[in-house]
Formats: sequence, C-alpha cells, structure tokens
Amino acid sequence: MDIVEMLNIDLSGEIEAILVYMRNSTVALRNVCETGNELEEIALDEMRHADWLSGLIVNLGGKPAMVHRELDFGGKTASDFLKRGIELENGGIEMYKEHISAIDNIKVKEKLQHILKEEEWHLKEFEELLYEQD
Ligand SMILES: [Fe+2]
Ligand SMILES: [Fe+2]
Repeated sequence: MDIVEMLNIDLSGEIEAILVYMRNSTVALRNVCETGNELEEIALDEMRHADWLSGLIVNLGGKPAMVHRELDFGGKTASDFLKRGIELENGGIEMYKEHISAIDNIKVKEKLQHILKEEEWHLKEFEELLYEQD
C-alpha cells in the first residue's frame, strides 16, 4: 500500500468521526450539555485532522477520496455516544500507530504523530466523561 492510500484510509476515519460526533452532539445537546459540547469540540479537531491529511495527500500528488464507512452512531444516551467515541478513537489510534511505523516520509510521519497525540487526548476526554456519567 502506498502513502496516499494509507492517508486516504486515515482520512475516511476522520470523516466518519466528524459525522458521528456532529450528529451525536446535536442529539446530546437537548439534554446533556457537557457531552454535547465535548463532541462538538472534538468534531472540530477531527475536521482539522481531515484538512491536514487532505493537504498531505495533495502534496504527494494524490486526491483526497472523501469516502467513509457506513455510519454507526451508537446507542441513544450520552453514555452510548461516549462509548461509540471511545471505539472510534481506539480504532484511529491503532490505525495511526500502524501507518506511522509503515511510512518513511518524515514530514508525513510527524504530522501523523501530532494527530495521534490528539486522538489519545480525545480518548481520555471521552473516558473521563463516561466515568462521570456512572
Ligand atoms: Fe482525528
Ligand atoms: Fe479523535
């Protein structure tokens, strides 16, 4: 698999997270403000990640594919949304770690490492909010 293909897989993960968090943020805001606000804030981070990945892809002569898997929003409650977020962040962390070790291009590697740090921070945020729910 070449770098552009890997970055397009990363990009599809970001798009999935953006759409799931945006939708769940709107639903959660009706009754649980903190979870809704956090989802919205993190969706914005994912949008920045998607923008960085698209930039890297274009610089490498590729085209951002802008596709995503079938969306799974999780259950109905704030806890369900947080659990879904934890799943998505864990999946992203695993994927970025794999791609960081597979890619030699230093610039790309550094950007992915930066994104990975933020995904680890998102995971922690969701886990803390979930802990407060119980
Ligand atoms: Fe992200
Ligand atoms: Fe994230």
